[in-house]
Amino acid sequence: MRICIVGAGYVGLTTAAALADFGHEVLCVDMEESKIESLRQGIVPIYEPGLDELIHKNVSDKKLFFSSQVAESIQDYPIVLIAVGTPSNDDGSSNLTFIKQVVDVIASTTNVYKIIITKSTVPPGTNEWIHKTLIEKGLKEDSFDIVSNPEFLREGFAIWDLYHPNKLVFGTKTSRPIKALRKLYERGKAPYIFTSLTGAELIKYASNAFLATKISFANEMARICDAYEVDYADIAKGLGTDPRIGRYFLNSGLGFGGSCLPKDLSSLKHSAVNKNVETKLLDAVRDVNETQIDQYLNKLTTKLPNLTEKQITVWGVTFKPDTDDLRSSPAITLIKKLVEKGCRVHTYDPIVKLDLPDVYAHINRYESVTDSDALIISTEWKQFLESDWLEIKSRMKGSIILDARNCIDGKLVRKYGFVYLGIGNI
Ligand code: UDX
Repeated sequence: MRICIVGAGYVGLTTAAALADFGHEVLCVDMEESKIESLRQGIVPIYEPGLDELIHKNVSDKKLFFSSQVAESIQDYPIVLIAVGTPSNDDGSSNLTFIKQVVDVIASTTNVYKIIITKSTVPPGTNEWIHKTLIEKGLKEDSFDIVSNPEFLREGFAIWDLYHPNKLVFGTKTSRPIKALRKLYERGKAPYIFTSLTGAELIKYASNAFLATKISFANEMARICDAYEVDYADIAKGLGTDPRIGRYFLNSGLGFGGSCLPKDLSSLKHSAVNKNVETKLLDAVRDVNETQIDQYLNKLTTKLPNLTEKQITVWGVTFKPDTDDLRSSPAITLIKKLVEKGCRVHTYDPIVKLDLPDVYAHINRYESVTDSDALIISTEWKQFLESDWLEIKSRMKGSIILDARNCIDGKLVRKYGFVYLGIGNI
């Protein structure tokens, strides 16, 4: 099959590489000429395990192509997959500017039957709006089909998720595109869920809102555990054995971040409020998340009462391990709060050298702790777990480790003389 993917961002690029590897001819287009030029030279602009190799393989097999000629490319391909960004507006709603630009191009270039697949996360009603707009702009009902096909890719595991999806969701208005959709995704074995355009949009929001709810629940439970001097890890284990609950997404820590969970939660709330639906649960999920960093800072001040002029090292600056993505990273909020409190902040991250005023970014994790009063672990990179604690202890001035992801062996580091702190880890 021949597919044009619009948007060479995180979702567009990973999907383009996988669909090409499934055997399709894929053209990935983006308005940003410099990005397309880099991709043509083999430079992949994001870090995602396995993506470089998959792109290079399929480019050399002549199955994957890149272009900045958006209109011509859209016109030329029978299937157009929209994977442009839908960032948040200040009021929490989704900004659909890029979606609207693509719809305009489709309206002005479509003269033979086309399948239009929306992969970008869009608020309920958007795909119905796209359908209505294309008709209003002169397209005939039988000259196109619109499909709402949300993605559920986890950064760091996107390639795996593309090959092993746990579901494939298709919202359609008619059964006409279904045969083509089955063929497009025949390499990814998973239950197919067919629903309406708006149903598919809401499956995506419901999934991310539920994941966010699990995390805020875990964080609130960890606070209660902390007050009763109980190890939250035991509670998570106890919860996880019940198949109705499941162990996934019950890790407590600094809270959820990234490009999806916070944004999708706000957008879903906005869509609900537009229809006069109250969102008490979604509000509480957000509130717990937003207060989580202060909980950790308060914990730090139980052992380091005056933070002014203290040197603090933060390990991990991205929103989670195995990614270079800094979007809505709780670690960044934490670092900014430490700077505001007058701390000298040093950072180390296995991939990102952070560029923030008054922050010293190191490329060696041991050097990053030299003379520090405290070390904060803000993402659970595997290499942090396997650190040389003796070396760290000898380099640090103080002895506090604040484990904000409950990932370090507390008993082990205490043996080296550290004061090991966390919320709900004893
Ligand atoms: C998420 C969804 O998982 C994916 O299906 C969707 O399509 C895009 O958004 P992603 O943003 O890559 O994926 O990250 P995810 O693995 O979901 O983690 C989100 C945040 O939750 C991270 O900040 C992570 O550290 C945090 N988290 C996750 C926890 O705090 N506790 C957990 O138990 C799991």
